[in-house]
Amino acid sequence: MSGRFTNQVAVVTGGSTGIGLAIAEALLAEGAKRVYLTGRTAKTLEAAANLLGEHVVTVVSDVASLSDLQKLKDEIETRGDQLNTIFANAGIAEKNSFGETTEDEFAKTFDINVKGVFFTVQTLLPLLRDEGSIVLTSSIVANKGMENLSLYSASKAAVRSFARSWANDLKARKIRVNTLSPGLTRTPIMENGLKMDAAQIAALNQHAATIIPLGYVAQPDEIASAALFLASSDARYVNGVELSVDGGMAQI
Ligand SMILES: NC(=O)c1ccc[n+]([C@@H]2O[C@H](COP(=O)([O-])OP(=O)(O)OC[C@H]3O[C@@H](n4cnc5c(N)ncnc54)[C@H](OP(=O)(O)O)[C@@H]3O)[C@@H](O)[C@H]2O)c1
Repeated sequence: MSGRFTNQVAVVTGGSTGIGLAIAEALLAEGAKRVYLTGRTAKTLEAAANLLGEHVVTVVSDVASLSDLQKLKDEIETRGDQLNTIFANAGIAEKNSFGETTEDEFAKTFDINVKGVFFTVQTLLPLLRDEGSIVLTSSIVANKGMENLSLYSASKAAVRSFARSWANDLKARKIRVNTLSPGLTRTPIMENGLKMDAAQIAALNQHAATIIPLGYVAQPDEIASAALFLASSDARYVNGVELSVDGGMAQI
């Protein structure tokens, strides 16, 4: 197998389902030597490992837990690997009602989506090769004001901001840091986080025709291909940016 990621090693946090799983699949299809996948749930990680095969190492690791992140780092070091790319992708999307939002809801979203991204990258940074790359998964909501999504949107705006600062912080090592901002994408986050039922998802698919210039909700592999572009040498002069992959939704 050869491709842009031949012999490369990557970490994909939140790699058991959805966009992260599609990123892992695409990396392996392009020759990656090893892909570390994380998530909180052993069962879904195991299913991902069975699907993807021997070049995958799964680690149950909650990005909100610094000791779990250390465990991930230890696992990579034990195998003697150095990283070419970190995909800090793990995240949750939960609605909050402004006026009734609890401190626990606030803490949960920011612990996973903001603290989780920050400490994922900081913990793994010593293992990242010079001239490596970091791709942070934000969302187009970082630049929008959607109803009942203020916590999620603010958390993703923080992620987008990290990419700007870290591109500067890591310039001496020539590490590129970019943001991937997906639009509507059909993943388990719709059921698990946003609590949408089948009828609501069907209605969203219909609504997509009016709010998205390309007219449909993305599949995870359509987001993964953009993530791989940012990580690859094709994007060797792309640094600090936000790439919206949303069928044009945020542009109109
Ligand atoms: N789908 C969309 O429409 C959309 C749009 C814009 C941005 N995004 C972003 O894309 C990223 C991936 O989401 P997705 O749509 O692919 O959803 P998904 O299928 O639910 O994937 C989320 C992944 O993150 C993991 N995860 C969640 N919390 C974690 C934690 N605390 N520590 C470690 N892993 C954790 C999940 O596994 P466990 O639950 O087992 O931990 C799962 O592997 C997220 O950052 C999301 O905000 C999604």
